[in-house]
Amino acid sequence: LLAPPAPRDLAGLHVVVSAGPTREYLDPVRFISNPSSGKMGFAVAEEARDRGARVTLVTGPVTLPDPPGVEVVRIETALELRDAVREAAQAAQIVVMTAAVADYRAAERAGEKQAKVAGDVTVTLTPNPDILAELGQEKGGRVLVGFAMETHAGVERAAAKAARKNADFILLNYPTREGTAFGGDDNEVTLVRPDGSAEAWPRLSKREVARRLLDEAVRVRAGRTT
Ligand code: CTP
Ligand code: CA
Repeated sequence: LLAPPAPRDLAGLHVVVSAGPTREYLDPVRFISNPSSGKMGFAVAEEARDRGARVTLVTGPVTLPDPPGVEVVRIETALELRDAVREAAQAAQIVVMTAAVADYRAAERAGEKQAKVAGDVTVTLTPNPDILAELGQEKGGRVLVGFAMETHAGVERAAAKAARKNADFILLNYPTREGTAFGGDDNEVTLVRPDGSAEAWPRLSKREVARRLLDEAVRVRAGRTT
């Protein structure tokens, strides 16, 4: 049995999605990163493509192949992610930040491999720019969507983040639920708006989460222009 065709409700729109981790190099062969698989962002990109959007997917290092019909930009560091997302976002109506952006990078990236020394080593980290917050400051008519992983006070913290970054909504998840979030094929998220209103969704495939995310983005757009 064939699934019914996806609605073409994103035809004529440009959707930008960020995905995966960033790598913050300490020296040419060592970096700080996180276990983001990229699956959530790739699912959003594929769903948006199937609904007729032009899609740019900016992704950190992940093992997933380029989705056909999507413009893929591969980056490593948060600074590279920022440049690529900001450029792509110029002409975009919807921007979805699923990337697990490292909050810090080495204040100084050594040009040569650093040999080990006896005893403790201190590394100074400096904050990376907040890409979603920067987009929120020059939002225009765009719909901005974030993700957040929290271990406690999730809805409250995610609502505060959405408000601070001028995002339309954030999908909140928890690191502890098996088979979800990092690396899993499913996700169990709560939609959180800047006003603190929230909707808990059941455990769903990442593709189904992507579908509902884009449904909500379309509703936000409609609410804005009518
Ligand atoms: N984000 C971003 N740039 C950063 C950090 C985060 O664009 N430098 C985006 C993420 O892609 C995500 C959202 O902001 O969509 C929330 O990320 P999160 O790490 O939860 O927020 P932070 O503001 O970094 O807060 P925390 O101190 O909890 O890490
Ligand atoms: Ca963070």
